Amino acid sequence: MSEIIFPPDFAWGAGTAAYQIEGGWQADGKGPSIWDTFCHEEGRVFGEQNGDVACNSYELWEKDLECIQQLGLTHYRLSFSWARLLPHGTTQHVNQKGVQYYNKVIDDLLACNVSPMVTLYHFDLPQALQDQGGWKSPSTAGLFDSYARFCFQTFGDRVKLWITINEPYVCAKLGNEDGIHAPGLREKGTAAYLVGHNMLRGHAMAWHSYDSLYRPQQKGAVSLAINSDWIEPLDPGREADVAAAERDLAFTLGWFAWPVFVTGDYPEIMRSAIDAQSAKLKHSGESRLPRFSEDDPTILGTADFFALNHYTSRKATAGGDCEETLCMKSDRNVEEVVDSSWPICGVSWLAVVPSGLRKLLKYIKDTFHNPAVYITENGFSQVGPLQIEDVHRCQFYKDTILEVAKAIEEDGVDVRGYFAWSLMDNFEWADGFSVRFGLFHVDFSDAELSRTVYRSGKEYAKIIAKYTSGQ
Ligand code: NOJ
Repeated sequence: MSEIIFPPDFAWGAGTAAYQIEGGWQADGKGPSIWDTFCHEEGRVFGEQNGDVACNSYELWEKDLECIQQLGLTHYRLSFSWARLLPHGTTQHVNQKGVQYYNKVIDDLLACNVSPMVTLYHFDLPQALQDQGGWKSPSTAGLFDSYARFCFQTFGDRVKLWITINEPYVCAKLGNEDGIHAPGLREKGTAAYLVGHNMLRGHAMAWHSYDSLYRPQQKGAVSLAINSDWIEPLDPGREADVAAAERDLAFTLGWFAWPVFVTGDYPEIMRSAIDAQSAKLKHSGESRLPRFSEDDPTILGTADFFALNHYTSRKATAGGDCEETLCMKSDRNVEEVVDSSWPICGVSWLAVVPSGLRKLLKYIKDTFHNPAVYITENGFSQVGPLQIEDVHRCQFYKDTILEVAKAIEEDGVDVRGYFAWSLMDNFEWADGFSVRFGLFHVDFSDAELSRTVYRSGKEYAKIIAKYTSGQ
């Protein structure tokens, strides 16, 4: 490749999520969410930390805006807190202070020439809805649709890029089977599949609402953000490893992308693995993976672009030490291995493999009918002593963005934007504040919660300036 080039209207962004940055957990009429509840229970989060205050973006939004401007972002991805807008989860009671807050954020962004991308659901279900069964209950999908319509109606004149649900895989599995995210359930059997199913139903309802009621005037685009590692067989010459890699991708990326982009239903590989495990353990009755019925919204075609959250790569081999229970881990029956040449950054799960993103983008192009793709999250974490001169993260962004350029130029993938995770250090879920993904450091020991740019933030700003100059 001679010189790297990005399309002139390429979106250069960074992302955050409400619970991870806003704080103000009880401010001005906000209702509690499942993350408020979860963090206040003992033993759930590293160091008993919580997002009660976090980066206090509820009060310090203007500081965030300064960071956004300093980076020269063209786009900013934020999420709405459902319980800040609708404290009980339903449109019967709207919290006007919440509406005012997000109106200001959106208006300020637009005044600075930054386009908002808004996620409607980033892990924080109103507690009132969890009390009625949460995402395991089919009715939550309809309530999500009402919330989405409310948001399209209220903010859609200015927001043109919407994500309905962020990482349904993580919500379903980590929240309902592994118990390490809110609502903290450790249910084997069907819970995760049921949650995933209702999330897909809710997403599709919201997309159809947008499509029929709002798109004609608002002319925006709606998708759901699917997380996926890049997976390849440990031994490409071994059939069992090739099958393991396919199965692994089917259980993560395929679980949500196949219904939306390919068939309207789950990948066959996934269903047959689940059903085989059920048969082996003599589980009788219906498939544990739900089926879409005629009463459900059409799932196929409910995304205007592919929103990808990607962090790392793995090599897959069959089996491993799977417990013989009815759970997703044993249904999937894959052992994931990290290549010894891949450096680990910060958290144990994050092996740094910039080339994996290019391979995944090519796979998405080939498998999901060449969709427009936004990389809605990608980043590098830091743990331990603070390093403002984060040279490894600088290198990571340079290498990764080069891989994105190659995917566009050489593989013809229709990538429309790249969003670094995250604008600033924030509450990293079960890891609390111990893991830092920011382009800005936030000093959580300082009452002002001061934000200081990392070297990687400066590097990212340079990259953006280079590719947006002349526009
Ligand atoms: C994905 C999630 O959407 C985000 O909230 C999280 O902070 C990052 N991954 C890093 O773990």
